[in-house]
Amino acid sequence: MMLLITGGLGFIGSHTAVEALRAGYDVLILDNLRNARRDVIGGIQRAASGRVGFVEGDCRDAALLEKVFTRHEISAVIHFAALKAVSESIDKPLEYYANNLDGLISVLAAAGRKSIRNFVFSSSAAVYGIPQKIPITENHPLSIENTPYGFSKLVAEKIITDFVQAKGEMQVVLLRYFNPIGADASGAIGESPSGVPNNLMPYLIQVASGEQEKLSVFGRDYPTEDGTCIRDFIHITDLAQAHLKALQWVAGREPSAPEVFNIGTGRGHSVLELIHAFERVNGVKLNYEFGPRRAGDNPILYADITKAKHILGWNPVLSIDDAVRDSWRWANRQHTL
Ligand code: WQD
Repeated sequence: MMLLITGGLGFIGSHTAVEALRAGYDVLILDNLRNARRDVIGGIQRAASGRVGFVEGDCRDAALLEKVFTRHEISAVIHFAALKAVSESIDKPLEYYANNLDGLISVLAAAGRKSIRNFVFSSSAAVYGIPQKIPITENHPLSIENTPYGFSKLVAEKIITDFVQAKGEMQVVLLRYFNPIGADASGAIGESPSGVPNNLMPYLIQVASGEQEKLSVFGRDYPTEDGTCIRDFIHITDLAQAHLKALQWVAGREPSAPEVFNIGTGRGHSVLELIHAFERVNGVKLNYEFGPRRAGDNPILYADITKAKHILGWNPVLSIDDAVRDSWRWANRQHTL
Protein backbone atom coordinates (compact mmCIF):
# COMPACT_ATOMS: atom_id res chain seq x y z
CA MET A 1 0.00 0.00 0.00
CA MET A 2 1.86 3.14 -1.18
CA LEU A 3 0.74 6.47 0.18
CA LEU A 4 1.74 9.69 -1.63
CA ILE A 5 2.20 12.57 0.83
CA THR A 6 2.62 15.96 -0.81
CA GLY A 7 4.32 18.50 1.45
CA GLY A 8 5.50 15.50 3.45
CA LEU A 9 8.64 17.20 4.82
CA GLY A 10 6.59 19.88 6.56
CA PHE A 11 5.58 19.86 10.22
CA ILE A 12 2.28 17.98 9.82
CA GLY A 13 3.33 16.05 6.72
CA SER A 14 6.47 14.59 8.29
CA HIS A 15 4.62 13.49 11.43
CA THR A 16 1.94 11.87 9.29
CA ALA A 17 4.65 10.12 7.23
CA VAL A 18 6.12 8.69 10.45
CA GLU A 19 2.76 7.44 11.71
CA ALA A 20 1.99 5.94 8.28
CA LEU A 21 5.35 4.10 8.23
CA ARG A 22 4.69 2.80 11.74
CA ALA A 23 1.29 1.56 10.53
CA GLY A 24 2.97 -0.38 7.70
CA TYR A 25 2.36 1.90 4.71
CA ASP A 26 5.04 2.49 2.09
CA VAL A 27 5.39 6.26 1.81
CA LEU A 28 6.40 8.50 -1.08
CA ILE A 29 6.98 12.16 -0.23
CA LEU A 30 6.74 14.96 -2.79
CA ASP A 31 8.02 18.29 -1.48
CA ASN A 32 9.44 21.42 -3.15
CA LEU A 33 11.54 22.33 -0.07
CA ARG A 34 10.02 25.84 -0.14
CA ASN A 35 9.14 25.54 3.55
CA ALA A 36 11.02 22.44 4.67
CA ARG A 37 14.57 21.14 4.91
CA ARG A 38 15.76 18.07 2.99
CA ASP A 39 17.28 16.59 6.18
CA VAL A 40 13.77 16.01 7.54
CA ILE A 41 13.77 12.82 5.46
CA GLY A 42 16.60 11.54 7.66
CA GLY A 43 14.60 12.40 10.76
CA ILE A 44 11.61 10.46 9.41
CA GLN A 45 13.86 7.45 8.76
CA ARG A 46 15.25 7.66 12.31
CA ALA A 47 11.77 7.91 13.79
CA ALA A 48 10.29 4.95 11.92
CA SER A 49 11.50 2.00 9.86
CA GLY A 50 9.80 1.17 6.57
CA ARG A 51 9.98 2.20 2.92
CA VAL A 52 10.00 5.96 2.42
CA GLY A 53 10.93 7.65 -0.84
CA PHE A 54 11.41 11.35 -1.60
CA VAL A 55 10.85 13.30 -4.81
CA GLU A 56 11.85 16.96 -4.85
CA GLY A 57 9.34 18.90 -6.88
CA ASP A 58 6.36 21.20 -7.05
CA CYS A 59 2.75 20.07 -7.12
CA ARG A 60 2.15 22.45 -10.02
CA ASP A 61 4.54 20.45 -12.23
CA ALA A 62 2.05 18.32 -14.19
CA ALA A 63 4.79 16.39 -16.02
CA LEU A 64 6.45 15.46 -12.73
CA LEU A 65 3.11 14.37 -11.25
CA GLU A 66 2.45 12.19 -14.32
CA LYS A 67 5.81 10.51 -13.78
CA VAL A 68 5.19 10.00 -10.05
CA PHE A 69 1.77 8.43 -10.60
CA THR A 70 3.04 6.30 -13.49
CA ARG A 71 6.17 4.98 -11.78
CA HIS A 72 4.58 4.19 -8.42
CA GLU A 73 1.60 2.04 -7.42
CA ILE A 74 -0.05 4.80 -5.39
CA SER A 75 -3.22 3.76 -3.57
CA ALA A 76 -3.94 6.94 -1.60
CA VAL A 77 -2.93 10.59 -1.49
CA ILE A 78 -2.67 12.99 1.43
CA HIS A 79 -2.28 16.53 0.11
CA PHE A 80 -0.51 18.86 2.57
CA ALA A 81 1.58 20.94 0.16
CA ALA A 82 0.54 24.58 0.63
CA LEU A 83 1.76 27.90 1.94
CA LYS A 84 0.29 28.42 5.41
CA ALA A 85 1.51 31.63 7.03
CA VAL A 86 -1.66 33.60 7.63
CA SER A 87 -0.07 37.05 7.92
CA GLU A 88 2.22 36.41 4.92
CA SER A 89 -0.84 35.48 2.85
CA ILE A 90 -2.24 38.98 3.41
CA ASP A 91 0.92 40.49 1.88
CA LYS A 92 1.20 37.91 -0.94
CA PRO A 93 -2.35 36.87 -1.94
CA LEU A 94 -1.52 35.92 -5.53
CA GLU A 95 1.35 33.67 -4.43
CA TYR A 96 -0.95 31.96 -1.92
CA TYR A 97 -3.83 31.45 -4.36
CA ALA A 98 -1.51 30.28 -7.15
CA ASN A 99 0.46 27.91 -4.95
CA ASN A 100 -2.37 26.52 -2.85
CA LEU A 101 -5.00 26.23 -5.57
CA ASP A 102 -2.97 25.46 -8.71
CA GLY A 103 -1.05 22.88 -6.71
CA LEU A 104 -4.24 21.21 -5.52
CA ILE A 105 -5.79 21.24 -8.99
CA SER A 106 -2.71 19.57 -10.53
CA VAL A 107 -2.62 16.86 -7.87
CA LEU A 108 -6.37 16.23 -8.12
CA ALA A 109 -6.18 16.01 -11.93
CA ALA A 110 -3.22 13.60 -11.84
CA ALA A 111 -4.88 11.46 -9.17
CA GLY A 112 -8.12 11.45 -11.16
CA ARG A 113 -6.33 10.35 -14.35
CA LYS A 114 -4.90 7.39 -12.42
CA SER A 115 -8.28 6.63 -10.80
CA ILE A 116 -6.96 7.10 -7.27
CA ARG A 117 -9.91 6.42 -4.99
CA ASN A 118 -8.62 7.61 -1.61
CA PHE A 119 -7.75 11.24 -0.97
CA VAL A 120 -7.25 13.18 2.28
CA PHE A 121 -6.99 16.97 2.18
CA SER A 122 -5.25 19.17 4.75
CA SER A 123 -7.73 21.95 5.52
CA SER A 124 -7.96 24.34 8.44
CA ALA A 125 -10.28 25.78 11.08
CA ALA A 126 -9.45 29.07 9.37
CA VAL A 127 -12.35 28.33 6.98
CA TYR A 128 -14.77 29.21 9.80
CA GLY A 129 -13.51 32.79 10.05
CA ILE A 130 -14.74 34.57 13.18
CA PRO A 131 -16.56 31.93 15.24
CA GLN A 132 -20.25 32.56 15.93
CA LYS A 133 -20.66 29.54 18.23
CA ILE A 134 -18.12 27.70 20.39
CA PRO A 135 -17.23 24.84 20.33
CA ILE A 136 -17.10 24.86 16.54
CA THR A 137 -18.89 22.02 14.74
CA GLU A 138 -18.41 21.05 11.08
CA ASN A 139 -21.68 22.73 10.14
CA HIS A 140 -20.59 26.08 11.57
CA PRO A 141 -20.95 28.73 8.80
CA LEU A 142 -17.89 29.10 6.55
CA SER A 143 -16.51 32.57 6.03
CA ILE A 144 -15.56 34.31 2.80
CA GLU A 145 -14.51 37.23 5.03
CA ASN A 146 -11.12 35.57 5.43
CA THR A 147 -7.40 35.93 4.91
CA PRO A 148 -6.07 34.73 1.54
CA TYR A 149 -4.74 31.68 3.38
CA GLY A 150 -8.07 30.82 4.98
CA PHE A 151 -9.97 31.57 1.79
CA SER A 152 -7.59 29.38 -0.25
CA LYS A 153 -8.53 26.48 2.02
CA LEU A 154 -12.24 27.27 1.63
CA VAL A 155 -11.98 27.41 -2.16
CA ALA A 156 -9.86 24.27 -2.18
CA GLU A 157 -12.63 22.39 -0.36
CA LYS A 158 -15.13 23.57 -3.00
CA ILE A 159 -12.79 22.58 -5.87
CA ILE A 160 -12.49 19.09 -4.40
CA THR A 161 -16.25 18.80 -3.87
CA ASP A 162 -16.99 19.85 -7.47
CA PHE A 163 -14.32 17.50 -8.85
CA VAL A 164 -15.65 14.52 -6.88
CA GLN A 165 -19.20 15.37 -7.98
CA ALA A 166 -18.11 15.40 -11.63
CA LYS A 167 -15.71 12.44 -11.48
CA GLY A 168 -17.54 10.32 -8.94
CA GLU A 169 -14.73 7.84 -8.37
CA MET A 170 -12.94 9.33 -5.36
CA GLN A 171 -13.72 9.25 -1.66
CA VAL A 172 -12.29 12.33 0.00
CA VAL A 173 -11.90 13.44 3.61
CA LEU A 174 -11.34 17.11 4.43
CA LEU A 175 -9.59 17.55 7.80
CA ARG A 176 -9.94 20.99 9.42
CA TYR A 177 -7.07 21.40 11.89
CA PHE A 178 -7.08 23.62 14.94
CA ASN A 179 -3.70 24.46 16.54
CA PRO A 180 -1.09 21.71 16.07
CA ILE A 181 1.83 21.77 18.56
CA GLY A 182 4.43 19.37 19.91
CA ALA A 183 6.78 16.90 18.23
CA ASP A 184 7.21 13.15 17.80
CA ALA A 185 8.30 11.55 21.09
CA SER A 186 11.39 10.13 19.32
CA GLY A 187 12.89 13.63 19.13
CA ALA A 188 13.86 12.93 15.51
CA ILE A 189 11.36 15.32 13.88
CA GLY A 190 9.48 18.42 14.97
CA GLU A 191 8.48 21.89 13.94
CA SER A 192 11.28 23.81 12.24
CA PRO A 193 9.79 27.01 10.84
CA SER A 194 11.86 29.02 8.37
CA GLY A 195 12.52 32.56 9.56
CA VAL A 196 10.92 34.18 12.60
CA PRO A 197 7.85 32.11 13.52
CA ASN A 198 4.40 33.73 13.65
CA ASN A 199 2.83 30.93 15.65
CA LEU A 200 2.94 30.79 19.43
CA MET A 201 4.63 27.46 20.10
CA PRO A 202 7.65 27.75 17.77
CA TYR A 203 8.21 31.33 18.95
CA LEU A 204 7.97 30.24 22.58
CA ILE A 205 10.56 27.51 21.90
CA GLN A 206 12.93 30.04 20.32
CA VAL A 207 12.62 32.28 23.39
CA ALA A 208 13.31 29.30 25.68
CA SER A 209 16.37 28.34 23.64
CA GLY A 210 17.66 31.92 23.51
CA GLU A 211 17.14 32.52 19.78
CA GLN A 212 14.58 35.20 20.60
CA GLU A 213 14.83 37.56 23.54
CA LYS A 214 11.24 37.69 24.79
CA LEU A 215 7.76 36.33 24.05
CA SER A 216 5.04 38.93 23.78
CA VAL A 217 1.63 37.64 24.82
CA PHE A 218 -0.72 39.36 22.39
CA GLY A 219 -3.35 40.77 24.69
CA ARG A 220 -4.38 40.16 28.27
CA ASP A 221 -7.78 41.85 28.15
CA TYR A 222 -9.80 39.18 26.36
CA PRO A 223 -13.07 37.93 27.89
CA THR A 224 -11.41 34.78 29.26
CA GLU A 225 -10.45 33.63 32.76
CA ASP A 226 -6.86 34.90 32.60
CA GLY A 227 -7.46 37.49 29.88
CA THR A 228 -5.40 35.71 27.20
CA CYS A 229 -6.80 34.00 24.09
CA ILE A 230 -8.00 30.42 24.19
CA ARG A 231 -7.07 27.91 21.48
CA ASP A 232 -7.48 24.19 20.80
CA PHE A 233 -3.84 23.05 21.00
CA ILE A 234 -3.64 19.52 19.61
CA HIS A 235 -0.55 17.31 19.82
CA ILE A 236 0.90 16.78 16.33
CA THR A 237 0.99 13.02 16.88
CA ASP A 238 -2.75 12.90 17.59
CA LEU A 239 -3.28 15.06 14.52
CA ALA A 240 -1.13 12.70 12.40
CA GLN A 241 -3.06 9.69 13.71
CA ALA A 242 -6.31 11.31 12.55
CA HIS A 243 -5.00 11.05 8.95
CA LEU A 244 -4.53 7.30 9.31
CA LYS A 245 -8.05 6.94 10.65
CA ALA A 246 -9.26 9.01 7.68
CA LEU A 247 -7.38 6.73 5.24
CA GLN A 248 -8.93 3.64 6.80
CA TRP A 249 -12.36 5.21 6.60
CA VAL A 250 -12.15 6.22 2.93
CA ALA A 251 -10.69 2.84 1.96
CA GLY A 252 -13.78 1.12 3.28
CA ARG A 253 -16.38 3.24 1.48
CA GLU A 254 -18.02 3.54 -1.89
CA PRO A 255 -17.13 6.98 -3.36
CA SER A 256 -19.56 9.69 -2.31
CA ALA A 257 -19.39 13.39 -1.41
CA PRO A 258 -16.33 14.52 0.59
CA GLU A 259 -16.66 14.22 4.36
CA VAL A 260 -15.45 17.03 6.66
CA PHE A 261 -13.98 16.53 10.15
CA ASN A 262 -12.68 18.98 12.77
CA ILE A 263 -9.37 17.81 14.20
CA GLY A 264 -8.70 19.34 17.62
CA THR A 265 -8.88 18.11 21.20
CA GLY A 266 -12.36 19.47 21.84
CA ARG A 267 -11.12 21.65 24.69
CA GLY A 268 -9.46 25.04 24.94
CA HIS A 269 -6.36 26.21 26.79
CA SER A 270 -5.27 29.81 27.14
CA VAL A 271 -1.96 31.19 25.92
CA LEU A 272 -0.92 31.71 29.54
CA GLU A 273 -1.85 28.12 30.44
CA LEU A 274 0.42 26.89 27.64
CA ILE A 275 3.27 29.11 28.83
CA HIS A 276 2.86 27.89 32.42
CA ALA A 277 2.67 24.26 31.27
CA PHE A 278 5.94 24.69 29.37
CA GLU A 279 7.66 26.23 32.42
CA ARG A 280 6.32 23.60 34.83
CA VAL A 281 6.98 20.53 32.69
CA ASN A 282 10.43 21.54 31.47
CA GLY A 283 11.65 23.48 34.52
CA VAL A 284 12.44 26.45 32.28
CA LYS A 285 11.54 30.04 33.14
CA LEU A 286 10.24 31.84 30.06
CA ASN A 287 10.91 35.53 29.42
CA TYR A 288 7.52 36.91 28.42
CA GLU A 289 5.56 40.13 28.69
CA PHE A 290 1.98 41.16 28.00
CA GLY A 291 1.73 43.24 24.83
CA PRO A 292 -1.09 44.65 22.72
CA ARG A 293 -3.60 42.42 20.97
CA ARG A 294 -2.70 41.12 17.49
CA ALA A 295 -5.15 42.23 14.80
CA GLY A 296 -7.47 39.48 13.66
CA ASP A 297 -7.10 37.21 16.70
CA ASN A 298 -10.28 35.58 17.92
CA PRO A 299 -10.66 35.47 21.73
CA ILE A 300 -11.79 31.86 21.93
CA LEU A 301 -11.46 29.03 19.38
CA TYR A 302 -11.85 25.34 20.03
CA ALA A 303 -13.39 22.38 18.23
CA ASP A 304 -16.33 20.08 18.69
CA ILE A 305 -14.75 16.75 17.65
CA THR A 306 -17.81 14.52 18.19
CA LYS A 307 -18.03 13.69 14.47
CA ALA A 308 -14.39 12.54 14.13
CA LYS A 309 -14.73 10.49 17.32
CA HIS A 310 -17.91 8.73 16.25
CA ILE A 311 -17.31 8.29 12.52
CA LEU A 312 -13.53 7.95 12.28
CA GLY A 313 -13.18 6.25 15.65
CA TRP A 314 -10.39 8.75 16.36
CA ASN A 315 -9.60 10.02 19.87
CA PRO A 316 -6.82 12.49 20.80
CA VAL A 317 -4.92 11.05 23.77
CA LEU A 318 -1.96 13.39 24.32
CA SER A 319 -2.05 16.47 26.55
CA ILE A 320 -0.53 19.92 26.32
CA ASP A 321 1.99 18.72 28.93
CA ASP A 322 3.04 15.99 26.47
CA ALA A 323 3.23 18.58 23.70
CA VAL A 324 5.42 21.07 25.59
CA ARG A 325 7.69 18.24 26.76
CA ASP A 326 8.03 16.79 23.24
CA SER A 327 8.61 20.21 21.66
CA TRP A 328 11.39 20.97 24.12
CA ARG A 329 13.02 17.58 23.57
CA TRP A 330 13.03 18.26 19.80
CA ALA A 331 14.46 21.77 20.30
CA ASN A 332 17.28 20.43 22.47
CA ARG A 333 18.03 17.63 19.98
CA GLN A 334 18.31 20.22 17.21
CA HIS A 335 20.91 22.12 19.19
CA THR A 336 22.97 18.97 19.76
CA LEU A 337 22.86 17.87 16.08
C1 WQD B 1 -2.19 31.32 18.93
C2 WQD B 1 -2.42 32.29 20.07
C3 WQD B 1 -2.03 34.60 19.54
C4 WQD B 1 2.27 34.31 18.92
C5 WQD B 1 -2.93 30.02 13.24
C6 WQD B 1 -3.62 30.11 11.93
C7 WQD B 1 -4.50 28.89 11.72
C8 WQD B 1 -3.69 27.64 11.91
C9 WQD B 1 -3.01 27.64 13.25
C10 WQD B 1 -3.05 26.88 9.73
C11 WQD B 1 -3.13 33.56 19.63
C12 WQD B 1 -1.05 34.10 20.59
C13 WQD B 1 0.94 33.99 19.17
C14 WQD B 1 2.97 35.14 19.83
C15 WQD B 1 1.02 35.27 21.21
N1 WQD B 1 -2.74 27.50 10.88
N2 WQD B 1 0.34 34.46 20.31
N3 WQD B 1 2.32 35.58 20.96
O1 WQD B 1 -3.50 32.41 15.13
O2 WQD B 1 -4.58 30.59 16.58
O3 WQD B 1 -3.87 30.06 14.28
O4 WQD B 1 -2.20 28.82 13.32
O5 WQD B 1 -4.04 26.28 9.45
O6 WQD B 1 -5.00 28.96 10.42
O7 WQD B 1 -4.48 31.24 11.97
O8 WQD B 1 -2.15 30.45 16.00
O9 WQD B 1 -0.01 30.25 17.16
O10 WQD B 1 -0.41 32.29 15.71
O11 WQD B 1 -1.59 32.06 17.88
O12 WQD B 1 0.46 35.70 22.23
O13 WQD B 1 4.19 35.48 19.66
O14 WQD B 1 -1.16 32.70 20.59
O15 WQD B 1 -2.49 35.89 19.88
O16 WQD B 1 -4.04 33.95 20.64
P1 WQD B 1 -3.59 30.98 15.56
P2 WQD B 1 -0.94 31.27 16.65
